[in-house]
Amino acid sequence: MRNIKGTTRVCGIIGNPVEHSISPILQNKLADLTNINLAYVPFKVLDGDVCDAVKGAYALNVLGMNVTVPHKSAVIDALIDIDPLAKSIGAVNTLVRVDGGYKGYNTDILGLKRELEEENIFLKSEKVIIIGAGGASRAIAFLCASEGANEVIILNRTFDKAKGIAEAVNGHFNCNVARAMELSDYEKLSGGDYVCIQTTSVGLHPNDNDTPIEDMKFFEKIKIGVDIIYNPAKTRFMELLEKSGDGKRAYNGLKMLLYQGVCAYELWNDVKITKEQADLVYDAMKKEMKL
Ligand code: ATR
Repeated sequence: MRNIKGTTRVCGIIGNPVEHSISPILQNKLADLTNINLAYVPFKVLDGDVCDAVKGAYALNVLGMNVTVPHKSAVIDALIDIDPLAKSIGAVNTLVRVDGGYKGYNTDILGLKRELEEENIFLKSEKVIIIGAGGASRAIAFLCASEGANEVIILNRTFDKAKGIAEAVNGHFNCNVARAMELSDYEKLSGGDYVCIQTTSVGLHPNDNDTPIEDMKFFEKIKIGVDIIYNPAKTRFMELLEKSGDGKRAYNGLKMLLYQGVCAYELWNDVKITKEQADLVYDAMKKEMKL
């Protein structure tokens, strides 16, 4: 049990709802492991109150905050500085205290980058397929382009949403790397060896047997896959990918969740979390979530 006293620093998460958040478990475990006297707590913040909450947090000497649904875009107006990648994505999930206010980052995306690198997956020069065209897809498409992917194909049921993301990415990076495709057109994908990131909610518990694409011919084109869903721990998308060829690797989204927290903690405390420490936090998360 941490010794809460006069020098204890406070961090927290603002969102609505926040009651289900795993971040307090994750961050307080990091504080235990690094021996830093920090307490991380949930702050339920209603729509329209985000700017007041951020101002109040600064006045209360809060060291840093995570931001979750539905405030990831609205919070940008309350910042005094923003990391360029977070700005281009248009979503912030981490606030770091600086002189006069908070600087915003998107560690959802830095966390995915860290997870991929830890698994020896580097997006540079890769051909990437992103399934889905919501907020997560948009952020991942920006990451792929900023990492120097060769091709980023956004496959989505609603073509116009995919097109919107592709145009935003190409416009921002002044290139032609991103392209939209309708989900049902996957047969038109040329060649193989794609890295595929599944960002839709299809397959999320309790719909464990669902997947946005069933056809094995699609999975044969993919060499590595990440499903951002972590419940169930092995989604049908992951199962089909593993079945489609010997030694194919498929990852779920729990490490992405872990590393978004690790990256935030490092920014707040100016420390480096080791792989061993991250693994201990990962075990604590799985235990808490009964995965
Ligand atoms: P987030 O912001 O978390 O990424 P979202 O904005 O709700 O989530 O996006 C969900 C994505 O899953 C969307 O791209 C959605 O497709 P549409 O743009 O056509 O709505 C996709 N999705 C949801 N249910 C789907 C289904 N049954 N089949 C295919 N795609 C689905």
